[in-house]
Amino acid sequence: MGAYAEIYRRSLDDREGFWLKAAESIAWSKPPSVALDASRAPLYRWFPDGELNTSYNALDRHVEQGRGDQPALIWDSPVTQSQRRYTYAELRDEVARFAGALTGLGVTKGDRVIIYLPMVPEAVIAMLGCARIGAVHSVVFGGFAPKELAARVEDAKPKVIVAASAGIEPTRVVEYKPIIEAALETTEHQPSAVVVLQRDAAKAELTERDVDWAELMASAEPADPVAVAAIDPLYILYTSGTTGKPKGVVRDTGGHAVALAWSMDAVYDVRQGDVWWTASDVGWVVGHSYIVYAPLLVGATTVIYEGKPVGTPDAGAFWRVVAEHGATALFTAPTALRAIKRVDPEGGEIVKYDLSRFSTLFMAGERLDPETYHWAHDKLGVPVIDHWWQTETGWPIAANPRGIEKLPVKPGSATVPVPGWDVRVLDQAGNELPADKEGAIAIKLPLPPGSLPTLWGDDDRFIEAYLSRYEGYYLTGDSGYLDSDGYLFVMGRTDDVINVAGHRLSTGSMEAVLAAHPAVAECAVIGVHDALKGQLPRGFVVLKAGVDIAEEQLRDELVAAVRADIGPVAAFRDVSVVEALPKTRSGKILRKTMRGIADGRDEPVPSTIEDPNVLTALRPILRTEKG
Ligand code: COA
Ligand code: AMP
Repeated sequence: MGAYAEIYRRSLDDREGFWLKAAESIAWSKPPSVALDASRAPLYRWFPDGELNTSYNALDRHVEQGRGDQPALIWDSPVTQSQRRYTYAELRDEVARFAGALTGLGVTKGDRVIIYLPMVPEAVIAMLGCARIGAVHSVVFGGFAPKELAARVEDAKPKVIVAASAGIEPTRVVEYKPIIEAALETTEHQPSAVVVLQRDAAKAELTERDVDWAELMASAEPADPVAVAAIDPLYILYTSGTTGKPKGVVRDTGGHAVALAWSMDAVYDVRQGDVWWTASDVGWVVGHSYIVYAPLLVGATTVIYEGKPVGTPDAGAFWRVVAEHGATALFTAPTALRAIKRVDPEGGEIVKYDLSRFSTLFMAGERLDPETYHWAHDKLGVPVIDHWWQTETGWPIAANPRGIEKLPVKPGSATVPVPGWDVRVLDQAGNELPADKEGAIAIKLPLPPGSLPTLWGDDDRFIEAYLSRYEGYYLTGDSGYLDSDGYLFVMGRTDDVINVAGHRLSTGSMEAVLAAHPAVAECAVIGVHDALKGQLPRGFVVLKAGVDIAEEQLRDELVAAVRADIGPVAAFRDVSVVEALPKTRSGKILRKTMRGIADGRDEPVPSTIEDPNVLTALRPILRTEKG
């Protein structure tokens, strides 16, 4: 048996022993005596009697062990043409000071803090500052509109919001303060303070409730880390579900620290002192886990990049950053590579840089299509490792566990289930499917440490959304198959979630925006294949009888409405007015069939269809009007 197979087996056969051993890599103020508490199954809790502080583990511990002068964080910002470095000692001091500043604003253990910051070091400082005093952070991605921010404020009820005056996109400066004001105008819940990091690109006008980051820090007393229970929440991260209401994924403290530290070594083969770069955004789970927490927990150096793969200033930006900072590994989304490949297909930019220390490219966030895989592999000459996970799981479910055993790569596959994850492929009735047969990917409970214990304030929704479809299993929402070698192929979502440029979005929430237009009788939004972004949303609307509106005008209004309500990140630009939508006899819109036709597949007409003529009429529109 290979090293991977042996460790995988052990992780499932002896959960207690396996995870208690892994827990030894973390400094506990009260070490756990048991790993798993199953007394409230299907709600499980990891390390129920352990106590620790994540900020201490990510910072102080390294300083105390003599690594205070090692770089902890390198900020590289082509959009502001700046760079900044923090050693572990410097980052600890900044975090301690910000934690003290939060305490001064009345934030105490268990309080929520919304962080609405672009890719600046202060985002990391704010997150770890919350963790230091046991406050629960909830980071909101900058590309969302006020309404999305408002939904998160209303659900998390933050005592404080921490924001920047501006984020910098290549073509425009995004002023955050007006977005916050617009959001707070609509919410019942009001934070007591808004901390604003003033940036040169656009200074915000501060009102009575606002506090200037720099002034606050200048007068703050550093705060020591406080011990919290392993089962206390570290953060909430909202993600798109099938409805318009985002799901508040909860991350606990102890299981998260143990799992992430373990994954850094076992999955990514990255250790203390290595330079590691995740090119994502702190607003997504990839950013939480692998820009901020995991690299710092193991004492590596993390790069935080405020820029894009292309246009800041060119398609060599990623290779410049890797070379300049000596990164041994890069983790990004396939869409970023497709963007680079489109501009620099021959890889002329790659050969300009010294990539001799660069050893592995990790890819996740969406399916890694074989074409992009081969391009990256050929041009970079390093292993290209696809791996699959979700906001909910917090760390990889399927991967090539590079630190355990470097398994052969099969293009199109995320490789094998990671130790801790009991991955099964099920049919409609919940029976396990044989090799090569596609079905729903489910994970047999309990999920390992680091995965979500529940949704914020809503155990029922957690159970209903994830644990009730197949009893005893967590439903991933992805479909796929295991081949005869045990390799997992993830093929796509089975629900209304789509992935646009690696950003997870809900077509259901876009439909809610379209349906609110007075001219629209009914609508459907589907994700269609896009060569750059993986998927793009496409809307189809049926007009109310007697409505007189020019199609062009309606399109513009609908596109503007989605941008205003969800945000630019939705990249919603394509709407068709149609006579009718294809439905089943029970009235369900046949979105999956529409998606298949739009993607060029030979979709059979479902036997349950109400009126086959509707689908016949729609076929050419689905096939040709891609935009
Ligand atoms: N704040 C404000 N606006 C943002 C934003 C942010 N943080 N991120 C994106 N946007 C805006 C963009 O400016 C763009 O606005 P526009 O319609 O006015 O042009 C819109 O949202 C769509 O952005 P995006 O989908 O990112 O497209 P793009 O054309 O700007 O860039 C890529 C395309 C591929 C370069 C880019 O999407 C990318 O780097 N993707 C990687 C994604 C990733 O790391 N995902 C995390 C999972 S691992
Ligand atoms: P998010 O919660 O934003 O990380 O998005 C999770 C979803 O992205 C998953 O459920 C998948 O649909 C998709 N996804 C992420 N990584 C991969 C991958 N490596 N291969 C295929 N799909 C992926």
